[in-house]
Amino acid sequence: MDVSGAINKRKSIRKYKDKDVSDEVIAKLLDAARRAPSAKNVQSHRYFIVKGDMKEKLVEAGAFKQPFLKDAPAIIVCAADPTQYPQSVDIDETSEHYAYIDLSIAASFLVLRATELGLGTVFVAWIYRDKIREVLDIPESYIIPFVLPIGYPNENPPQKPRKELKEIVLGL
Ligand SMILES: Cc1cc2nc3c(=O)[nH]c(=O)nc-3n(C[C@H](O)[C@H](O)[C@H](O)COP(=O)(O)O)c2cc1C
Repeated sequence: MDVSGAINKRKSIRKYKDKDVSDEVIAKLLDAARRAPSAKNVQSHRYFIVKGDMKEKLVEAGAFKQPFLKDAPAIIVCAADPTQYPQSVDIDETSEHYAYIDLSIAASFLVLRATELGLGTVFVAWIYRDKIREVLDIPESYIIPFVLPIGYPNENPPQKPRKELKEIVLGL
């Protein structure tokens, strides 16, 4: 599958087969994220792979607002550390912007690679970050914008509509 194939095929998947996603496959996803560009090449992104007992702990702690997450064979908690960017002046909001931007780019690489490998996922931002931070012992400085449940698709929803180019582009 080429890049445009993955871009066109990707859609949010919220139902997963009861089939493990191997560590080898998850490593392939993370390797795609690893190759993403980042501001000043700081690579502030960090990933916490959650399976089995740890997933149960998160579910029991009430970390997720949507019940489908408990059925995902694996969940990748996506985080980034804004304090890693060199400060040319006093700390300002730019570092936090960089962290969000860099993590989002990397996660997009990851999601497209997942699509290529026949996996289903969805960006999930509707989470209780404090619970996730507590259970996984994630440092206070890290942002945790979203998690990515990963599994083999057990649904085939229609693709969601998109705006026409003329609605989002000026001057083409
Ligand atoms: C930043 C972001 C946060 C999202 N948060 C959630 C979420 O918390 N729960 C959920 O079910 N879907 C979530 N989604 C999925 C969107 O609803 C979905 O991408 C959108 O409706 C378009 O559908 P598609 O991904 O199938 O093309 C999120 C997507 C993005 C990009």
